[in-house]
Amino acid sequence: MPRTVVVTGGAAGIGRGAVERFLAAGDHVVALDRDAAGLAALPASVQGIVVDVADRAALAGAAEQLDRVDALVCAAGVQRYGTVVDTPEDVYDEVMGVNVGGVFFACQAFIPRLPKGGSVVVVASVQAYAAQRGVAAYSMGKGALLSLVRAMAVDHAGDGVRVNAVCPGSVDTPMLRSSAELFGASIEEWGRSHPLGRVATAGEVAEVIYFLSTPAAAFVTGADVKVDGGLTAQIPVVLP
Ligand SMILES: NC(=O)c1ccc[n+]([C@@H]2O[C@H](COP(=O)([O-])OP(=O)(O)OC[C@H]3O[C@@H](n4cnc5c(N)ncnc54)[C@H](O)[C@@H]3O)[C@@H](O)[C@H]2O)c1
Repeated sequence: MPRTVVVTGGAAGIGRGAVERFLAAGDHVVALDRDAAGLAALPASVQGIVVDVADRAALAGAAEQLDRVDALVCAAGVQRYGTVVDTPEDVYDEVMGVNVGGVFFACQAFIPRLPKGGSVVVVASVQAYAAQRGVAAYSMGKGALLSLVRAMAVDHAGDGVRVNAVCPGSVDTPMLRSSAELFGASIEEWGRSHPLGRVATAGEVAEVIYFLSTPAAAFVTGADVKVDGGLTAQIPVVLP
């Protein structure tokens, strides 16, 4: 029987990759995004709902519109730069509101609707483990997501609901392209810091999201799975 899968941030990037992966499996997909035009451009079988995930009432309203939900993927997020000293309060509030609150309140809205066997996959980042310079609020938020994933996995295991995170390295999405433009780097240059020598495609991350959401991962909960091309496996020692 096809499942109903809700994907936040489903209009672009990793979320869109997840939408396409679940569609390919024959699932019914509901994409939540603040980008109405991006939602309209998705395949016609996708149910799009315009929602800003920083708006907890809007998330609750979206959940009420759906009769059935089997799995939730939280992919909506924003990348903002700054150290703890120079991050303005409004940027801090945006990053925490979207990247942390947007996951917390999506889970609050949808987990009560998940059946036994239901699944949540949260898109965190390698920046939950290690930081590049100038991403203080973003890193903090991604670290918070891994703690939230473990807490939710423990709280809802008794209901038969599994909760996991994926931690991507760099992925070729509109977000990465705008970061690359900001720093004057190409996607190819960005990929060189990964031992596999390239960035990921959204589809490669979506494949892991899909696996974690299926009964094939029935004994996996509270996990954070790196999809990073080896980025966090290496130490940056340059031999003389
Ligand atoms: N691209 C990467 O290299 C990378 C690496 C690690 C983690 N991530 C994480 O993966 C997730 C997806 O990133 P991406 O690269 O696909 O980004 P993206 O910007 O390419 O796409 C994000 C999507 O989320 C939507 N979105 C953003 N804020 C929203 C909000 N407040 N409400 C509703 N929708 C919103 C956007 O409209 C867009 O459709 C993010 O959580 C990001 O932090 C990305």
